[in-house]
Amino acid sequence: MRLAVLADIHGNIHALEAVMAELERHQPDQILINGDIINAVPNSNDVVERVRPSDWLVTRGNHEFYYLNYGTEHDVPNSNDRERWGQLHWLVKNLKPEHGRYLAGLPDELTLLYPHTQPLRVTHGSPGHHRWGFYEGQPRQEILQFLDPVSQPTLVSAHTHVQLDWMIESDGRHTDDDFYIDPHAYGTSESTPGRRWHVINPGSVGMPLNSDVRAQFCLLQSTDDPAVWGGWQATHYRIPYDRRPVLESYFTSGMLEQGGVISILFYWEIVTADREISLFFHWAEAHFDTKQTPLREMFNAYVQATARDQYILEHDPYKGQLKAII
Ligand SMILES: [Fe+2]
Ligand SMILES: [Fe+2]
Repeated sequence: MRLAVLADIHGNIHALEAVMAELERHQPDQILINGDIINAVPNSNDVVERVRPSDWLVTRGNHEFYYLNYGTEHDVPNSNDRERWGQLHWLVKNLKPEHGRYLAGLPDELTLLYPHTQPLRVTHGSPGHHRWGFYEGQPRQEILQFLDPVSQPTLVSAHTHVQLDWMIESDGRHTDDDFYIDPHAYGTSESTPGRRWHVINPGSVGMPLNSDVRAQFCLLQSTDDPAVWGGWQATHYRIPYDRRPVLESYFTSGMLEQGGVISILFYWEIVTADREISLFFHWAEAHFDTKQTPLREMFNAYVQATARDQYILEHDPYKGQLKAII
C-alpha cells in the first residue's frame, strides 16, 4: 500500500499542481491531505475546487477552523483587527460559500486501517489540538505529552510546515539522540514506559518553513520490515516550481492590499521559507508591549530596524511592488 501525504497547501494552487504532476509519476494508491487547505495564499478557491471532486482523504486544520468559526463565539481573538486578520477577512469575502459547506463536513482526524497494514492515526497537529505540532529541538516532555493519547503506532501530523520522520520511544530514545535520557523516568507520571511511535510530518506543499522553498510532501509505503516502527516507511520529497505566479496573485487578488501586516509576512514566507511571522513577533516582544501597541506600528519599526524588507526584495523571484504596500 502506498499513500501520498500532502498537508498545509494554504491556497497555493501552483505548488499543489507541481506536487500532483510528481504524483503522476508515483501513482500512489491513495492521496491524503492533512489539513490547512485554505488561507495564507490567495488561491483557496482553486485548491478546494481541485480537492473537492477527488476521492482524496482530507482532514481539517486550524486554518479551516479560522474560516468556519469566523463571526461566532469560537472566533479567533481580536478577529476584527484588520492588520492581524485581514487575510481572513479577505478569505471570508472571497471563498465560495459551497466550498465553506464542503469544509464544514470534513473530519478533524482519521484512523486509517488498510487491509494487512498497521493503523495510521492522522491529525493536523496532535489529537484534539490542531495547533500542537512537532518540530526539531522540541522538548522531549512535550513530544511525549502530545503523543500520549495516540494508541496507534504511527502518527501522521502536519501544521509546523517542516518534514519530520521520527522514531520516538517513551523511555527517551530518539533517532537524533538529542534528548536527555533520564534513567529514572520509568514509572513516573512523565509517560508510560515501553511505548513507541513513528511520527511523520510530510512538510508543507504551499508554504514550507524549513528554509527550502520547494513544494513538499511524503509517500508512505507499508512494510513488514521490523526495523521500521509502525509498519510504514516514509520517503520525503521536495519539488521545485515557479513561485512567481503565486507571489503575483497576492497583488492581483487584493489580498496583500486588504490583508494587513500578516498578509505581507505570509508573502515573505513564500519568498524565504523562513518563519517570518515568528521572527517578527519575537522581535516585537523584545521591543514593545505587544498587547498595547498596534501591529502596524510594530511592523513599521521592525522594517526600519532590521531592513528585512530589503532582504525579501533581494530574494523575491517575482519582485513585485511590495514596497508600495509596506
Ligand atoms: Fe499550516
Ligand atoms: Fe496549521
